[in-house]
Amino acid sequence: MQNFMQELLARIKSSAEYIQKRINVQPEIGLILGSGLGDLADEIEDAVRLKYEDIPLFPVSRVEGHAGCLVIGKLNGKIVCAMQGRFHYYEGYSISEVTYGVRTMKLLGINKLIITNAAGGANKKFKPGDLMIITDHINNMGTNPLIGDNLDIFGPRFPDLTFAYDREYIKETLKIAKKIDIKVQTGVYCANTGPSYETPAEIKMMRRWGADAVGMSTVPEVIAAAHAGMRVLGITCITNMASGILDQELTHTEVMETSKRVKEKFKSLVKKVLEIM
Ligand code: HPA
Repeated sequence: MQNFMQELLARIKSSAEYIQKRINVQPEIGLILGSGLGDLADEIEDAVRLKYEDIPLFPVSRVEGHAGCLVIGKLNGKIVCAMQGRFHYYEGYSISEVTYGVRTMKLLGINKLIITNAAGGANKKFKPGDLMIITDHINNMGTNPLIGDNLDIFGPRFPDLTFAYDREYIKETLKIAKKIDIKVQTGVYCANTGPSYETPAEIKMMRRWGADAVGMSTVPEVIAAAHAGMRVLGITCITNMASGILDQELTHTEVMETSKRVKEKFKSLVKKVLEIM
């Protein structure tokens, strides 16, 4: 295990070195863009775009037509480093590949992160199209990116997750949303591996656990970020009501349609919150 983690670190270091050589700015904020939000990266100015496949040892996208790009440049006055396309556990990536991007960002000197995703609403007060600021999470993925020898360069063996979702960011984001007249919810995000959606019985259980939204990403990245001492803001787009909440089937089409409908609102919020980070 020691070898594995040391090799992983060496791999991340060489990816970060390659990226560093291709930029002449210091990115301050990392962005992980979830379903439907990828084209926010197209708004980045003076952008250096690096395809994942061109970054040595960076995981590569397995889905055709989903190139995957790291985009570094200016967005609303801040120097950001955006992952356009993320690696999901359900695609068959290892948990260290899922968190590879976050750790690469850390080595690039980034200590602030915005993570976005799409999820099903488990809270009956939510509606598809709502945005939810993540206040906490439940890791129901059955794994953890920190398993194995601890990489001390990032953080401690037993990192605290009490403040994994930065309180100040949550507070300021709520203020901004109010100011620009975007309605937002707050709540707990529960991550499952997917790719099957949850069953109604599982959703009933997760609601009792305290879940407000359920999805298939984000939690591994947030754990890796918190381990590395990064401040995180997580924003979810509720694309559908979770299984069994409504008497109807869940479809990927509904997920895509809702994220498309909400995209402009979502992008304005993300751009605006950069100002308080
Ligand atoms: N469950 C899990 N992941 C999701 C969902 C859901 O209902 N909607 C979008 N991503």
